[in-house]
Amino acid sequence: MTFRNVSREALVGSITLGVVFVAGYFFGKKKSPTMSISKSHCEGKDDPLMQYVLSHSMREHPVLKKLRLRTMEDSWKIMMVACEQAQLMANLAKLIKAKKAIEVGVYTGYNTLNMALALPDDGVIVACDISETYTDIGKPFWKEAGVEHKIDLRIQPALKTLDELMAAGQAETFDFAFIDADKVNIDNYYEKCLLLVRKGGLIAIDNVLWGGKVLNPSPDDQDTVAIDKLNKRLLRDSRINLSMLTVGDGVTLAFKL
Ligand SMILES: C[S@@+](CC[C@H](N)C(=O)[O-])C[C@H]1O[C@@H](n2cnc3c(N)ncnc32)[C@H](O)[C@@H]1O
Ligand SMILES: *[C@@H]1O[C@H](CO)[C@@H](O)[C@H](O)[C@H]1NC(C)=O
Repeated sequence: MTFRNVSREALVGSITLGVVFVAGYFFGKKKSPTMSISKSHCEGKDDPLMQYVLSHSMREHPVLKKLRLRTMEDSWKIMMVACEQAQLMANLAKLIKAKKAIEVGVYTGYNTLNMALALPDDGVIVACDISETYTDIGKPFWKEAGVEHKIDLRIQPALKTLDELMAAGQAETFDFAFIDADKVNIDNYYEKCLLLVRKGGLIAIDNVLWGGKVLNPSPDDQDTVAIDKLNKRLLRDSRINLSMLTVGDGVTLAFKL
């Protein structure tokens, strides 16, 4: 349709609507231009809508709940994955009938336990972390839930573990990977996980919005630079299809083609 075919009234009407929409968009915006972490146990804690989401969707295993509450006593609880995100990942893992998973960054093992519960009895999750202090918090809960035998915890730099899996001939044998450790290595983790995951498998990358800092990465903030760089690269990566979700601190789902 060209402008010549449109009546003057219709044109004026559309322009008016457009102005009203744009003005509403800007005036309706929150004061802060950046989106902050909306994890249910962080900023989302006092948000009634977040509470509605939790009370209308969470089906948390009782031991998983116990581990979450135990983790809330730790001073680094902000590191824990949001329970609503963990449940999404467990649902996705089941959907693709995942048997083998990788967790890069375990902390107290909330998501490690969550995934182990989603895997079949002969499934395995290779859990990578450098800190036994944190993972020791989770271990008794893994045992209590009866899934300890599915968790292969490796305490050493995750890059080393991923290289060892490759060397052991496990390329393209994993169904699911969750990348949630140090951010300067995020690109390396992604590349290695992409080799280890099979076609049709899924890689979830956490903290892709980094509390909104990706909007304005300062050159000397290596973490933000690394995340933003990977985000830009993933958009053009023909080896995957992707979705970037605003759940938690932002999570990108990369589906290996
Ligand atoms: C955000 S927390 C992980 C949260 C976890 N996925 C959960 O479900 O709650 C990040 C973890 O990465 C670990 N980490 C940091 N650098 C690492 C490295 N080079 N290799 C392996 N783990 C590392 C930290 O010790 C920490 O436990
Ligand atoms: C990947 O995305 C493209 C474009 O949206 C689509 O045509 C294709 O079917 C997708 N592939 C898979 C395996 O989902």
